[in-house]
Amino acid sequence: MFLLETPPGPLVQIDGREYLYFVGTGYLGLQSHAEVIRAACDATQRYGIHSATTRAGFGNIPPTLDAECRLAEFFGTEAAFYFASGYAGNNILLSALADDVDIIFVDQLSHYSVWEAAGQSRRPVYHFRHRDPGDLVAGLRKKLRPGQRPLVISDGVFSVRGTIAPVAEYCQELSPYDGAILLLDDAHGIGVLGTHGRGTYEHTGLWNTVSPLPQVGEGPEVRAAGPGAADESTGGDDLNTPSPHPNPLPKGEGTSVGPLAKGEGTGVNSLPSGEDSAVATFLTATASKALGGFGGVIPGSRPFIEQVKKASHWYEGASAPMAAAAAATARAIELLMADPDLRTRLSSNVHLLKDGLRHLGFEVDQTPVPIICLVTGTAEKMQRMQQELMARGIAVAYMPAYAGLGPEGGLRIAVFATHTEETITRLLDELRKLA
Ligand SMILES: Cc1ncc(COP(=O)(O)O)c(C=O)c1O
Repeated sequence: MFLLETPPGPLVQIDGREYLYFVGTGYLGLQSHAEVIRAACDATQRYGIHSATTRAGFGNIPPTLDAECRLAEFFGTEAAFYFASGYAGNNILLSALADDVDIIFVDQLSHYSVWEAAGQSRRPVYHFRHRDPGDLVAGLRKKLRPGQRPLVISDGVFSVRGTIAPVAEYCQELSPYDGAILLLDDAHGIGVLGTHGRGTYEHTGLWNTVSPLPQVGEGPEVRAAGPGAADESTGGDDLNTPSPHPNPLPKGEGTSVGPLAKGEGTGVNSLPSGEDSAVATFLTATASKALGGFGGVIPGSRPFIEQVKKASHWYEGASAPMAAAAAATARAIELLMADPDLRTRLSSNVHLLKDGLRHLGFEVDQTPVPIICLVTGTAEKMQRMQQELMARGIAVAYMPAYAGLGPEGGLRIAVFATHTEETITRLLDELRKLA
């Protein structure tokens, strides 16, 4: 276990020693921004640690409402629900959606929180191969009876491998099915991908990028783009085989909480893909990663967000988010929206590092995702590489067999907007010596 003794950033102190830091999810460096920290401290002074009651009663404090306003502004939606845990987001959203679907299909390498939420939805759950629309289609054909409504869930950007879900293809394949829903957990795409940083949907051309702030209440409909970039596939298994994910799922049928009103303002975007069918798209995200604050968020139209709050019981049954977390989230988003250069710097750092790694002979994709997973040799070799890098003052994470990695695991490298060219060159130099 390592003890991180400073805020996350390009240079940290771990166990009493300084390291260049390429770990974690603070992609834009906002968690350690002086103004974000000041906002958190001020809010704590003013409102205490938290309101010590739920938001349904007296638990709303200005920073919480402020965070929701800023988040809605960032996403260009009428409203947003902000809550204490990004991990809970899929569960909260599925509470509102489960009555409207019959069968759930999950990318096999989705995050733990996706699998847990699907498992708790009391709908039958099947997995399809990682980023494989063809395998999804096979599952849809095999499992759905006429009239049944599918819900597909996937990470937008996968947290360890850094791969991007082919959402345009999913939409296309889902479009023949009435009532089909696509739900993305875009914890790692938000703040990073897309013209406005709205993540994987925007990156893939599925968000209304014509207007900087689409009015979701008015139905910002965009046509599903054609198939996205070609995908690698992990190779796969039948949909009936147990999930290879570390948290296999309970399967079963049943009913869930509160029906979702159809039609008016269901999600972030409604993606009409044919005369008579549409795929409703939904999004869960976290403020804790690129957005630089803390907590979970679901953006959407006002009526839909009201429905989510009622369906999940988080609004009336959980302590409201901490004042510091809400205020930090609001301030970090203000900074991010006021300084588009922040995202430009991240993008050029990603390209600098990925180009450098390619020169060293590593196979690295061309996407703007700031997560790079190097799988090079055995687990022992990679662990040695990580230890060697640590000995030279550079911290990267060795991930043991985790969703998406083989038994040998991999080295996960995260690049930030706040890394300097010199820092990135230093990492590349050390990797060259070790490779
Ligand atoms: C895909 C994904 N979803 C959800 C979460 C949980 O978000 P949070 O850390 O804000 O609780 C994480 C990681 O932490 C994640 O990688």
